Amino acid sequence: MSQDQASQPVPGPTSRGCVAGCSLSPVGVHGGGRVERYVRLVEPVLRGPVVIVIAIGAFVAAGAIGGRFGVALASAFVAFHASYCVLNFWLCRETHCVVTGAGWALLAVLGFAAALVPGASLSWYRANVVTIGYLVVLGLGYLFEWAVAARTGRRALARSGPEITPTTPQPEPVRMVTESNAGGIDDRPPLLHGRSVALRPLKPADVERVAQIQAQPAVLRWWGPPDLEDLRRKADGSADEKAFVIETDGEPIGLIEYHEENEPDFRHAGIDLYLADDHQGRGLGTDAIRTLARYLIEGRGHHRLTIDPAADNRPAIRAYQKVGFRPVGILRQYWRAPDGTWHDGLLMDLLAPELEQGSEATSSG
Ligand SMILES: CC(C)(COP(=O)(O)OP(=O)(O)OC[C@H]1O[C@@H](n2cnc3c(N)ncnc32)[C@H](O)[C@@H]1OP(=O)(O)O)[C@@H](O)C(=O)NCCC(=O)NCCS
Repeated sequence: MSQDQASQPVPGPTSRGCVAGCSLSPVGVHGGGRVERYVRLVEPVLRGPVVIVIAIGAFVAAGAIGGRFGVALASAFVAFHASYCVLNFWLCRETHCVVTGAGWALLAVLGFAAALVPGASLSWYRANVVTIGYLVVLGLGYLFEWAVAARTGRRALARSGPEITPTTPQPEPVRMVTESNAGGIDDRPPLLHGRSVALRPLKPADVERVAQIQAQPAVLRWWGPPDLEDLRRKADGSADEKAFVIETDGEPIGLIEYHEENEPDFRHAGIDLYLADDHQGRGLGTDAIRTLARYLIEGRGHHRLTIDPAADNRPAIRAYQKVGFRPVGILRQYWRAPDGTWHDGLLMDLLAPELEQGSEATSSG
């Protein structure tokens, strides 16, 4: 894939959350003009507050109007938000939307009935009751989500994770095979969205650029010189490792890959990556790891991830800790440096519920 092709906006939701998350607008990660990039940057920050302002406005206005008109106005807003949540659940499988979608729909139906049915039987159901009901349902929704996440480590009920383009075919969450899933199976999703980076499957056209990055001294030191044949196999999807180009603003800035151990009793996935030297130290590596880790957990059903940096690669260890990886132990004389000397490695692992518990845990990922 050429860089131009890779820069085409990709339709579909990019984030999550009924109130402040799942974007239902077709905003892509790559390319686009300045305006699109600006919107992409501020949209997640603005969406939540905008909904809150609209909600407060609707409920205050409904309370001021009062009576049947007031309850109708409040219910119209609640109905709108319920529809949004149902759509959000359909696209993103956010757990709380099960409660908020259904609960708000019920409140709205009751509200319209109170506005329309003659007589005083539903006169108790006024705008302020709708407001209280709306908040209670919201609280119950997030309580339910919290309880489910505490058990599963995931906010989404299905595997269409927030950073996985949902318009694309999703891989099976767990493929119980007894061998590596290598060898011609190229089931990498077309795009994974991080906060500032996008992960796009490595293609043959990327090999030269990625090799240049790997040849930079700050990467070469840890990865050794690029092996073009190996990179080409990763690019056509036939290698054991499934590789992605790390992009920011449509520019390739590094490579991240995973390999899977699919022997059922030892199932896990391992991650490795590098960034161009002028993009290191800006949080992009952490973003890329978190994005891939979330895909491996939510999209491929892994409960455990591993990573094995050199024991003295402090920036790498720090980046992995920020995502939630924990040190397991030293792997003595584990890897051979380009100068032929053997060096210790550090085995680190992460269990699914720990993903959001790194020292830099965020809710938006
Ligand atoms: C390892 C790598 C992927 C990390 O990505 P990154 O974007 O540079 O990492 P981040 O900026 O997200 O985080 C780096 C952290 O290390 C810290 N750090 C940097 N130098 C450090 C040092 N000498 N000692 C301790 N911490 C250090 C940074 O301060 C930052 O932590 P902070 O956010 O708490 O301040 C990237 O640096 C890289 O590609 N390095 C070269 C190749 C490599 O080592 N790959 C890993 C092989 S396992």
